[in-house]
Amino acid sequence: MTDHLQPVETWDEGARHYDASLRGHGRTAEVAETVACLRRLADHRPVLEFAIGTGRIGLPFAETGAEVHGIEYSPGMLAELRAKPGGADLPVVLGDMASVRVEGEFGLVYLVFNTITNLLTQDAQVRCFRNAADHLGPGGRFLIEVHIPQIRRVMPGERHAVFDATGDHTGIDEYDFVNQTLTSHHTWVDGGRARTFASTHRYAWPAEYDLMARIAGLELEHRWGDWSGSTFTADSASHVSTWRKPA
Ligand SMILES: C[S@@+](CC[C@H](N)C(=O)[O-])C[C@H]1O[C@@H](n2cnc3c(N)ncnc32)[C@H](O)[C@@H]1O
Repeated sequence: MTDHLQPVETWDEGARHYDASLRGHGRTAEVAETVACLRRLADHRPVLEFAIGTGRIGLPFAETGAEVHGIEYSPGMLAELRAKPGGADLPVVLGDMASVRVEGEFGLVYLVFNTITNLLTQDAQVRCFRNAADHLGPGGRFLIEVHIPQIRRVMPGERHAVFDATGDHTGIDEYDFVNQTLTSHHTWVDGGRARTFASTHRYAWPAEYDLMARIAGLELEHRWGDWSGSTFTADSASHVSTWRKPA
């Protein structure tokens, strides 16, 4: 059953442009803050990144001396990771994070950059939480970083909202309110040529993720507004949340 997956071609075909299109998320300062937070939560135990991609976070995390493992379903994204310094040695299993099993027991499983939303059904997201919990040792943590759905930006009666219009990039979200999904349409203009990328996501509010965690036997530990540990408020555009497996 694969109807919960985005077409893998989406990621394979975009893989060679991925790092160049990261904007703020590829900045050294943001990556360093993310890695520092993950490192504190890992408690010196091995860690597993679901959907590790090109290694934006996994590779610098491994450079700190952490034992980093990964799961990734796109051969194209994995090839980009493998081509980077340290990428050939990182243990990464090719498969679906909602079901694939990695050898070992981990202190931290993490899924960043809104990627829980890449699983397109509630059932698949629940399976992902369960799969994360199955990889954790006692007291281990599952962390996700994900946007709060920005439906407040959609005008009444409409279903589109611009989420970025800066420099060479325009981003428009198209909501399907019945199925709780959205499609993000990106356009980059580069040297007079336009390049587009579209991906569909299933969005959810924090309370729904808390329920998924509870189903997986995990307990809410932290909910921050960002990687610095700021307070989560009604105006937070995203959250970093951790749930723990009972010790
Ligand atoms: C936004 S990128 C994030 C990559 C990386 N974690 C980062 O922070 O840069 C989303 C990644 O999720 C991967 N992905 C999407 N669905 C997946 C699934 N079901 N199982 C494993 N990887 C998946 C894509 O191939 C892509 O590499």
